[in-house]
Amino acid sequence: MSVTILAIESSCDDTSAAVIRDGYVLSNLIAGQEVHRSYGGVVPELASRAHQANIVPVVDRAIKNAGIKPEDINAVAFTRGPGLLGSLLVGTSFSKGFALARNIPLIEVNHLQAHVLAHFIKKNEEGSDIPRFPFLCLLVSGGHTRIILMKSYLEMETIGNTIDDAAGEAFDKCGKLMGLPYPAGPAINKLASEGSKNVFKFSKPVVSGLDFSFSGLKTSFLYFLRDRLREDPDFIEKNKSDLCASLQHTIINILIDKLIKASLSTGVKEIGIAGGVSANSGLRNEVTREGKKRNWNVFIPEISLTTDNAAMIGITGYYKYLANDFSGQDITPLARL
Ligand code: KG4
Ligand code: ZN
Repeated sequence: MSVTILAIESSCDDTSAAVIRDGYVLSNLIAGQEVHRSYGGVVPELASRAHQANIVPVVDRAIKNAGIKPEDINAVAFTRGPGLLGSLLVGTSFSKGFALARNIPLIEVNHLQAHVLAHFIKKNEEGSDIPRFPFLCLLVSGGHTRIILMKSYLEMETIGNTIDDAAGEAFDKCGKLMGLPYPAGPAINKLASEGSKNVFKFSKPVVSGLDFSFSGLKTSFLYFLRDRLREDPDFIEKNKSDLCASLQHTIINILIDKLIKASLSTGVKEIGIAGGVSANSGLRNEVTREGKKRNWNVFIPEISLTTDNAAMIGITGYYKYLANDFSGQDITPLARL
């Protein structure tokens, strides 16, 4: 019997719905929220309200685009956390209502696990393009920077974590200092491709083991700009692409150093990247280059699966469905897991 999952993601500022059948994506729709742009970051209350406005039309479209009927759906998978509580509440409440109305099971999904399991979405019958276990994944987003070891679909261990800011925050906060709109990651990526990465040197943090730190980089970037702007008020405008290239190079170096260390210490060579920052072309190139050198089997996600999306919730829900791992109607969202 085939298994059809309706998946809902609403952890931050994207309302997304997807339909997954037997591990394949039938539809994956995302409604972004422009409302936060002028505030320079996500405003939780506005995000929650926008989810409420978006969720019904997005789910409706995802079902129609998948070419299925609501009665074909076997279970509803939704993001339980981590994320913004008000945002999570919208997706959780909708999913509970949908499951209750259709009398089908409910499946809670960990957002971080879902980012990693996006690599396990099927593309062909043989499954030749999906990783084998154990699988080591660098998860880099606006809220998280972790090295995750997956031993099976549902066994996940964080072996490295940031002790302060996430890599995406480093992009966004440094971008803000240069006057770039939120989220600054994509703009820095674009400007970096026009600049030279060796013009400015920013020091890398010293953090033990497989952990990360990015708050020092942000502070040193701030002081560096402040000093240079004193000498030349147009310093940022004149050097923007080189600043972006040098900053991006430093962030990538920090990430790659720890990924190499993680692979060496675990012996795992099935390596992937995930999360919003994995859309960064410099990081994608560097992981690919390092992988060739070290004989890694490298998995780079499609751009549409890097940032928050419901297809990744659906694939996780699919494997939980196969494991009979369901939730009750008393389930509540969790801002932290
Ligand atoms: O995974 P995501 O959509 O949301 C979170 O769960 O945080 O990641 C968003 C983050 C933002 O910090 C954004 O600036 C960053 O991903 N980002 C990028 C790029 N595209 C998105 N950072 C660097 N280069 C990119 N191309
Ligand atoms: Zn995310």
